[in-house]
Amino acid sequence: MKAYKWMAALSAAAIGALAAGHAGAQETVKVGLIVSMTGQQASTGKQIKAAVELYQKQNGDAVAGKKVQVILRDSGSVPDNTKRLAQELIVNDKVNIIAGFEITPAALAVAPLATEAKVPAVVMAAGTSIITERSPYIVRTSFTVPQSCVIIADWAVKNGIKKVVTIVSDYAPGFDAEKSFTERFTGAGGQVAQAIRVPLANPDFAPFLQRAADAKPDAIFIFVPSGQGGTFMKQYTERGLDKAGIKLIGPGDVTDDDLLPNMGDAAIGTVTAHFYSADHNSPKNKTFVEAFTKAAGFRPNFMALGGYDGMHLIYEALKKTGGKADGDSLITAMKGMKWESPRGPIQIDPETRDIIQNVYIRKVEKKAGSLYNVEFATFEAVKDPVKAAKK
Ligand code: PHB
Repeated sequence: MKAYKWMAALSAAAIGALAAGHAGAQETVKVGLIVSMTGQQASTGKQIKAAVELYQKQNGDAVAGKKVQVILRDSGSVPDNTKRLAQELIVNDKVNIIAGFEITPAALAVAPLATEAKVPAVVMAAGTSIITERSPYIVRTSFTVPQSCVIIADWAVKNGIKKVVTIVSDYAPGFDAEKSFTERFTGAGGQVAQAIRVPLANPDFAPFLQRAADAKPDAIFIFVPSGQGGTFMKQYTERGLDKAGIKLIGPGDVTDDDLLPNMGDAAIGTVTAHFYSADHNSPKNKTFVEAFTKAAGFRPNFMALGGYDGMHLIYEALKKTGGKADGDSLITAMKGMKWESPRGPIQIDPETRDIIQNVYIRKVEKKAGSLYNVEFATFEAVKDPVKAAKK
């Protein structure tokens, strides 16, 4: 039997016992970082890896008397791989923390392992609301998709947009986007003429864009995960929709800073709501973007912030516990933590372990010859609206 098969066969209880037995006694705190370095979500892995490396370069690789060792594993953008790699990292490498998770199915796959092994899982990317409710050991430093969608819905209503066609990727965060936007928009009198879902794998938007255009909406609301905005924008332009007077709105994933510089002028004027733009105007962000770009050779996108702040959360939690690295101590320390990120002020909600952050409205503009999401309005300390509504 191959080693990984044996591992997969281990019961969850055995994993828990192993992890518990090894916590605390070590001088090295190990962080198992599982992201996609290859496959469809490779841009997210590339961004998070660069951000984690930058954080350690700037802050050193030791905190509270412990060395922090990051063990990077490539999920290949396959959630089953994430689960297997998390099992191996917990059982063989005896990591104290797992982190990363480029898409929702990957984060959901590790939730039961985090619970059984009492190992904190720092979600640095995936954005479906439900994720943090799947384990008391999950904490999120990225975002929730509805956080941005309700804000752009309000903006649309206020700016005379009455009829919208929604286009979303056909999986959990797409459903979150469609639902949270539609409820808020129609609740304020807007009309959703059509709700279109596009496959996540190798999407061809062209036929869906034609259907959307035929409905003659004021705007198309689009959610695609980071990494797919370039394909979408290309097909949107090829169909001539940029010239048809149909506005493009959505959460900011579509105008992701990783791809935006190469999207072409058709992207200009796209209005999105999101928590991070490389153009965010603060001294902290200017320093961050400069250091990141210099070290990585590309612009940070919103996923980089999940990685950078995820590391900050781990370091600060270790300071607070005096280097104690068992799951319960770390999670307790992480709850309620607040700091100034390059994206603006953020905090970990002590009740939900989810992120509370500013959401900005931005418009794509050309600045010094390059496309940016230029922020023009701020909504402060936005909580995940889905969890807020459940209370
Ligand atoms: C997700 O799968 O949760 C996800 C991935 C990329 C995004 C947003 C959500 O940009």
